[in-house]
Amino acid sequence: MDAAQESLKVAIVGHVDHGKSTLVGRLFHDTGSLPEGKFAAIQAMCQRRGMPFEWAFLMDALQAERDQGVTIDTAQIWFRTARRGYVIIDAPGHKEFLKNMVTGAAAADAALLLIDAAEGIREQSRRHGYLLHLLGVRQVMVAVNKMDLVDYGRDRYEMIVRDYGAYLEELGVTPRHFIPVSARQGDNIAHPSAAMAWYRGPTILQALDDFQVMTQPDHLPLRFPVQDVYRFDERRIIAGRIETGVLRVGDSLLFSPANRVGKVKTIEAWNVPSQPIQASAGMSIGITLEEQIFVARGEVASHETDPPVESDVFLARLFWLGDRDLAVGSRYTMKLNTAEVGVVVQSIDRVIDTNDLSTKVSARVARNEVAEMTLRADSMQALDTFTASPPTGRFVLVDDYSIAGGGIISMQGYADQRHLVARRSSNIQRVAHDVTAENRERRNGHKGGVLWFTGLSGAGKSTVAVAVERRLFNLGYQTYVLDGDNVRHGLNGDLGFSPEDRAENIRRVGEVAALISRAGMLCITAFISPYRSDRDRARLAGGAQFAEIFIKADLATCEQRDPKGLYKKARAGDIPEFTGISAPYEVPEAPDLVVDTASLTVDKAVERVVGYIQTRFAIDATRARN
Ligand code: ADX
Repeated sequence: MDAAQESLKVAIVGHVDHGKSTLVGRLFHDTGSLPEGKFAAIQAMCQRRGMPFEWAFLMDALQAERDQGVTIDTAQIWFRTARRGYVIIDAPGHKEFLKNMVTGAAAADAALLLIDAAEGIREQSRRHGYLLHLLGVRQVMVAVNKMDLVDYGRDRYEMIVRDYGAYLEELGVTPRHFIPVSARQGDNIAHPSAAMAWYRGPTILQALDDFQVMTQPDHLPLRFPVQDVYRFDERRIIAGRIETGVLRVGDSLLFSPANRVGKVKTIEAWNVPSQPIQASAGMSIGITLEEQIFVARGEVASHETDPPVESDVFLARLFWLGDRDLAVGSRYTMKLNTAEVGVVVQSIDRVIDTNDLSTKVSARVARNEVAEMTLRADSMQALDTFTASPPTGRFVLVDDYSIAGGGIISMQGYADQRHLVARRSSNIQRVAHDVTAENRERRNGHKGGVLWFTGLSGAGKSTVAVAVERRLFNLGYQTYVLDGDNVRHGLNGDLGFSPEDRAENIRRVGEVAALISRAGMLCITAFISPYRSDRDRARLAGGAQFAEIFIKADLATCEQRDPKGLYKKARAGDIPEFTGISAPYEVPEAPDLVVDTASLTVDKAVERVVGYIQTRFAIDATRARN
C-alpha cells in the first residue's frame, strides 16, 4: 500500500485520569488535523467563561460533532502525519476495549500506554498491559505523561521505566520506547522538549511513525466464517468476511464443523465492473458453490489441506469482566467468529492476578481477573488456536446479553477430533445378521454389554477388571477384559499418549468393545480414557448396553500406590503428558456406577460391579444369583 494512503490503528490505553483526551487533543492539534478554527473557538469559549483551556473540552466538542456526523468520519477518529494516517481506538473502559479487539472490528496494530508521572503505575496500568499481551498486540510504547507536574524530573521517569518495564517484560511485552511527555504543555509530542534535554529518544509522533501497519493476514491459512446464506433466484450466496488467507474461484472449500466440501463457482462482488477471481483477508464477499450443499451461519470455510481444529473442549485464557463471578459449572454463550454456542466452564486451572502476575488455584474468577480454564461447548466447533491464527483464535463470552469476558484459545492437552468424526469410506452398506441378539442372550443367559472402566493410572481399573472377569466367568458369563497395557502391545501398538493418540486408542477400543458386546459377551475395558468426548464416543458405539464405571481414587492415593513407579518418573519429568500430572483427566459427569477404591477393598469393589452386572445384564435366574 502507498504509505500516504495507509493508516495505522493505534489503541490508546491508560487510567482514566492519566490524560488521554489531552494527549489525543494535542496530537490532533500538533499535526494540524483539527478542523479549521476549532482550537480558537474553544479557546475563546474558555476565556468567555473564565476557565482555563482544557484539551478535553476540545475533544468533547469534536466527539459531539462526530456523534451528529458533522465533521469527522462517524466511525473513526483520525489524524495524519506526513507519513500516514492514524486511527485511534479509544476505548473508555476494558469492556469496550476488549469488545473492539475481540470482534476484530478494530484490531490494533500498535498501542500507546499512558501513565501519569506523578501518580505512577496503577493497577489499571498493569491490567491494560496484560490485556494487550493477551490480545497479541506487540508494538507498544509507553508515554509517561504529566512530566510538568514532577518538574520534568529524570529520576521519576526512570523509576517508572524500571518498574513498568519489568512488569511488561515478564509478560513478554517489550515497549519500543518510554517517552517522557507533557501532553498539556506539548513536550515530546510533536516537538522535542527543551525542558527535558536529558531525554534523547524520539517524540510520540516520531515513535508512532516508526511502527508498522500489521499486514493483512493473507499468509495465514484461509478462514472464511459464514455470516449468512442468501437466496437469489436459483443461486445461494454464502456471505461473510475473509478473516485470513486467500480464496480463489475453483478452490475446494471445507466447511467446518459440518465437514462438507464444495467448490467455489463464483465470487460475487458488488459495484465492480467484472467479477473477481480471488479475494483475501479483510474483504467481505459472497460466493456461490458448484454443488448444492447445506451451509449455515457459524460454519468456517477453509482449504482441505489446512483446516481448523474440531473439538468440543478446549483450554482458554480468559479476561473476566462480568459482574457475577465466573465459576466451575457456569454456562455462557460463546461468540466465536460468526458462531454462537453454549459453553460450560468445566474446570478452572489457575487464576492469575494481573497486578503482580501471581497465580492461585480457585473455583471462581472475579471481575478483572484472568484465568486459565477448560471450556466445553454444547457441540463440536471449528477452532483455531490463538498462536496459529490470532484473528480467529479469540472469542467472547456473553452473560445476560452483555459481553462478560474475552479470551484466547489453546488446545494444549486436547485433541483435534476431526478425523474421528469424518468418515472416509463411501459406498458401504450394513449386512444384516441372521443370528439375533435375542438368540445369543437366550443361549448365554445374559445380555451382551460394555463395562467401560475409567480412572487414573493406579486407581485399580485392571485389578478390579481382572477380578470381575474371574467372578463372572465362574458364574457362567461370557466375558473378556480389554486392558490398556495389553491392547497397546498389539492393536494399538502404533499409538502414544498425545491427546490425538489417546482419542484414537479409545475410538478403536470403543468399537472393538461394541463388537464383542454384539457377539453376546460382556466386555470389560480398563483404560484411563481421560477425555469425556472420547468416552462419549465409546458410549455411542456401545449403544444401550454401555455402562460407564468410574474407578475412583484421587491423585494423591494413586500416586502413593504408584504400582508401576510411573508417577515418580512423571514427577521427575521423564514421562511427558502423564495423566493427572501433565495431562488432564476429565472426571465422569454422570457415570452409571462409581467404585471408590480409596475406601473399598478389592473384594468389595468387585462385589459392587458384579452386583450391578447381575441386575442389569442377567436374564436367567441362575446367573442373577451369587
Ligand atoms: S489412555 O489414556 O489412552 O486411555 P491407556 O489406558 O491406554 O491410556 O494406557 C495407560 C497406561 O499406559 C498406564 O496405566 C501406564 O501404565 C501407561 N502409560 C505410559 N505413559 C503414560 C502417560 N503419559 N499417561 C498415562 N499413562 C501412561
